[in-house]
Amino acid sequence: MALNLDSVGKKLGPVSKDYNWKDVVLYSLGVGAGFSDLEYCYEKNLKVIPSFSIATIFDFISHYAATSNVNLAGILHGEQDLILHHPIPVEGTLTTEGKITHIYDKGAKKGALVIGESETRHSNGKKLFTSILTLFSRFDGGFGGENAPAETFVFPDRKPDFEITETPSLDQPLIYRLSGDVFALHVDQEFAKMAGFEKPIMHGLCTYGYSCRALMKSLTPGQPEKVRRLKCRFSKPLYPGDPIKVQIWKTDNRTAVWKTVNAKTGEDVITNGIFEFGEIPKKEIRFDGQVAVVTGAGGGLGRVYALELAKRGAKVVVNDLGGSQDGSGGGSSTPAQKVVEEIKALGGEAVANYDNVATPQGGENIVKSAIAAFGTVDILINNAGILRDKSFIKMEPENWQSVLDVHLTGAFNVTKPAFAVMREKGFGRIVMTTSAAGLYGNFGQTNYSSAKMGLVGLMNTLKLEGKKYNINVNTVAPIAASRLTEGILPPDLFAKMKPEYVSPLVLFLCSRDCGVTGNIYNAGMGFYNRAAVVTGPGTTLGDGVNPPSLETIVDHWKPISSLEKGKLYFELNEQVGVAINAFNAPAPPAEGKNEAKKIASVAAVFDAMPAAFNAKAAEGVDVVFQYHISGDGGGDWNCAIKNGSCQINAGVHEKPTCTLKMAAKDFIDMIGGVLPSMQAYTSGKLKIEGDIMKSQLIGKLFKLN
Ligand code: NAI
Repeated sequence: MALNLDSVGKKLGPVSKDYNWKDVVLYSLGVGAGFSDLEYCYEKNLKVIPSFSIATIFDFISHYAATSNVNLAGILHGEQDLILHHPIPVEGTLTTEGKITHIYDKGAKKGALVIGESETRHSNGKKLFTSILTLFSRFDGGFGGENAPAETFVFPDRKPDFEITETPSLDQPLIYRLSGDVFALHVDQEFAKMAGFEKPIMHGLCTYGYSCRALMKSLTPGQPEKVRRLKCRFSKPLYPGDPIKVQIWKTDNRTAVWKTVNAKTGEDVITNGIFEFGEIPKKEIRFDGQVAVVTGAGGGLGRVYALELAKRGAKVVVNDLGGSQDGSGGGSSTPAQKVVEEIKALGGEAVANYDNVATPQGGENIVKSAIAAFGTVDILINNAGILRDKSFIKMEPENWQSVLDVHLTGAFNVTKPAFAVMREKGFGRIVMTTSAAGLYGNFGQTNYSSAKMGLVGLMNTLKLEGKKYNINVNTVAPIAASRLTEGILPPDLFAKMKPEYVSPLVLFLCSRDCGVTGNIYNAGMGFYNRAAVVTGPGTTLGDGVNPPSLETIVDHWKPISSLEKGKLYFELNEQVGVAINAFNAPAPPAEGKNEAKKIASVAAVFDAMPAAFNAKAAEGVDVVFQYHISGDGGGDWNCAIKNGSCQINAGVHEKPTCTLKMAAKDFIDMIGGVLPSMQAYTSGKLKIEGDIMKSQLIGKLFKLN
């Protein structure tokens, strides 16, 4: 009988199961626990081994086999991923729902893979765990389907950090099967022979349970609640009585990779293991009710962003033109459509869009697709990209232009209509995609680097225009294995660069929880850091009235070039303000002179202002300076200067030319000459909003010290 390919996407369950402490203890004994780890075997203060979760959903798992119609004589557990959301209580009722998400064809003699994903909730209302299971069906291959995407897994090139050896007893499967998996292969001599084994084999999940105990012993001793994820591939059968060795490499303080080998033969029994551990996050980041547009999402990074957003509740527009790597050719609807199917198979919502980001009409259409399908846009990831690498001297204008068109103009084309929707609703998250080639340079990519750095400029200004509408704009510089990097990266590096390492950072930038705007992050291979334009402290040369000579510049090259104590500026005004204020700093007090002038209070400064006003300097000037002085003795004052006259009033003016904000103590220090105004400004003690250029008049209009 053939596999039922229509079973993909069909909802399975709910299937419920009651369990109590005896089930928990029986499982623990089945996976080798005993007096040496009594906390899992004794009802007093009983703890649950996290891999017990899989045993509780055995009835549900059997639906995968029945619904997909696999040949039962040839099925083996291929892979298991278990993600724990909350610790497993010692008793209760579990309810599991899920679906078959993929059926892959490995080839006529190689078999088929049936992949199912399920979620299990406890009667206490909590989602306890997600299981992603791969059934390997040895006799069902060759139906003409697609093969599973190739996966690479690299173990560290060093000795394991932990090794734990145990020997399951000859009778182990007889105990383990009482937890639910009563498949004849693990108990019946005749059946085992028919399936091609010399005798009944261990349950793969029993060895998985042994491995889980070894991992906990090494990394979370006595704390099963800290186990977050247990993933692996079952690679070889194991006979009862054969010793096993669990080998563990800790890769950081939350993750380890592991394998379990047959200690007699040295063969891997379980491999490609991932173990995640640590505190359960207090809050899960979700995108329920939000609509995301991801451009270029038919493959590579964009596909993973789209899938991950959908898994966390977002409705996704999967845009992809389906073109070639260099953007040539007619395009195809297949890549975007396939990703939409993947999302739907996981129970998510998505629509495909095949427009070209490089045209204004394409950009409009992409946003229209979102509005037509889901009513709005909350999130936009500008990700579509092509490459046309050439050394500069060989760079044809066409290769220059087409790369700028897709990356930079493409982002403009989609962001413009999306920004309008976001502005209207007062919320938006936009992510631009730059590249290390743009941030730092890369030989042969002048077109690409320019486009990618152009996106940083687009972000820098858009963040300011979006700020009051709660639209955050950030930029990622990814490093990931994709067709764009296939020819550029060395093959061994390429294997370590899953887009899945980039997506968590990008998803955070898309989330409501992300408060930052205008930032750039490098992300890839598990390494993340921030990149930024840093500005050195600089120096003044000359008197600010006459330009310095070229030789003076040369003589002062060191302080001009220094980035020591460099600063980040959020907008042009901040940096230009420093230059404008550079010569405004009062001259340092002459030695031995009593420098500071006594200032009684903030109010006294404003009382003294009319007398300090220089009417001559105010001819033709029409400005309002608003002061907001915080802290003890502070308040709001404004100085309105028009036609050579000056009015000082307490309170807030409705149309100030610029607003100066300062703490009362700093204000008194600045007026008294203790705190130079430039230092006040560069240190952030004095903040100036509005027309910063006009604030320069203050020094001329008032002679307070
Ligand atoms: P990819 O080639 O797998 O994905 C890019 C997608 O954009 C393709 O599916 C392509 O069909 C689509 N696309 C191209 N032109 C389009 C257009 N005019 N309209 C709509 N869709 C279009 O490449 P990958 O690596 O996933 O790249 C994603 C983004 O990340 C790109 O912007 C790339 O420049 C950037 N990036 C990637 C790096 C990496 O290491 N993979 C490094 C730095 C930046």
